[in-house]
Amino acid sequence: SDYELVIAGGTVVTGDGQFRGDIGIDAGMIAAVGTGLRGVATIDASGLLVMPGGVDTHCHVEQLRSDGTTDEESFVTASTSAFVGGTTTAITFSAQFKGRPIGPSLADYRARAAHAMMDYSFHQIITDPTDEVIRDEIPALVAEGIRSLKVFLTYDPLHVDDRGFLRILAAARRHGALVTVHCENYAAIGWMTEALLAAGLTAPKYHAWSRPVMVEREATYRAIALAELVDQPIQIFHVSCSEVAEEIARAQARGVKVWAETCPQYLTLTESDMDRPGFEGAKFMCSPAPRGADAAEGLWAQIRRGTIDVVSSDHSGYGFEGTRGKRIAGAEASFRDIPNGVPGVGARMMLMFSEGVATGRITASEFVRVTATNPARLFGLTGKGRLEPGADADVVLWDAGRRSIITNAAMQHAIDYTPYEGRAVTGMPVMTLRRGVVVMRDGVVTAEPGTGRFIPRGPYDLIEPSGRVANGFEAASFA
Ligand code: URP
Ligand code: ZN
Ligand code: ZN
Ligand code: ZN
Repeated sequence: SDYELVIAGGTVVTGDGQFRGDIGIDAGMIAAVGTGLRGVATIDASGLLVMPGGVDTHCHVEQLRSDGTTDEESFVTASTSAFVGGTTTAITFSAQFKGRPIGPSLADYRARAAHAMMDYSFHQIITDPTDEVIRDEIPALVAEGIRSLKVFLTYDPLHVDDRGFLRILAAARRHGALVTVHCENYAAIGWMTEALLAAGLTAPKYHAWSRPVMVEREATYRAIALAELVDQPIQIFHVSCSEVAEEIARAQARGVKVWAETCPQYLTLTESDMDRPGFEGAKFMCSPAPRGADAAEGLWAQIRRGTIDVVSSDHSGYGFEGTRGKRIAGAEASFRDIPNGVPGVGARMMLMFSEGVATGRITASEFVRVTATNPARLFGLTGKGRLEPGADADVVLWDAGRRSIITNAAMQHAIDYTPYEGRAVTGMPVMTLRRGVVVMRDGVVTAEPGTGRFIPRGPYDLIEPSGRVANGFEAASFA
């Protein structure tokens, strides 16, 4: 019998390899992958790569701030940019504020996310691991299908100390959630920042000086060691260079369940971008900071080696000119008072394809693995990131040879700049399908707000403890 829709004659790229073939789609799901499939409707993919829609497991979208406002990227604009860039699913952040419970801010955030067109899930940021949060709210999150927590080891309003981190790790172990970690040493950054400002060194480039590699490497090792003490799986977010990845590789080699993410900004930007004239450098400020000119090659090697499994955008909702963004403390603000983060949900796939596949640094299958298959698998998004019968029909059709220039207008996000302005890229998405529906064609997005789905995540093997406790005592049973 005929399928409702067949994507015919393209080069199907999966995490395992590539072949000429067709995708048969019924009821929004992939029903068959093969050759000679017949459809009621057909999309001709000849000359194109057919790949799983991107899964961006680190996006700050419409994130709540403690003053009751949100950042500048809405679920509608983020979905638009995601579809333009070939991404169909994102995990965004529900924030807890110190001194306050999680429940009300999560309910507020859910109502905002209901406007999304992309499919989505949440990470819950834990800033205040009180008894109530540990005893009641973390199990409630897991019951709602929110199976990942984010812990910041730095940032004044967000940071959690080592004891709080241990409590969160233990709660995650008891209830079955993955813990993601922002690894930088809080005290070291505070001390270096004070010293730089006292010396009058306030320009954006000193952001990188305030938090050099060893500050990230130390916190990464510490996060791993504490996760080993509790025997709780973790993912290290936004690894900026190979020296940090080496700590992760060593832990992986001794059997620790630790995974790692990097982001396009660490593969394409450098510390010197923050040294552009005037306030311009603020456009490139993120944490961890972009590193030296040789950092990117080291990270590509760690991607090929498999130390780093995931490349997500860490899309940040801070604009440049607006008073909710980089200029929040004025154009003369010191680096300490400029919000960190760069937008990238729309640019992620193109940057990775161009810098990775078009240059021969990674294969098309490796591209699919780090941009879609691995992020979906690591976070328990079981229907996403793969072109196999039973998976959601989230598909991107990609013109591998097409050259274009990245501009902010082309990104179609709400942020008023892109750090990749003017960059030439090879390869771009020409069509995006979400659950079998064409949502983007040649840069035109056609999805209606509210058509995205929240994806609850069930238990899965990767987040089970390894069973290797430090000694006979299972500390994690103690809150
Ligand atoms: O600089 C960054 N990455 N800002 C966004 C928040 C975070 O640390 O992930
Ligand atoms: Zn609403
Ligand atoms: Zn972070
Ligand atoms: Zn982030």
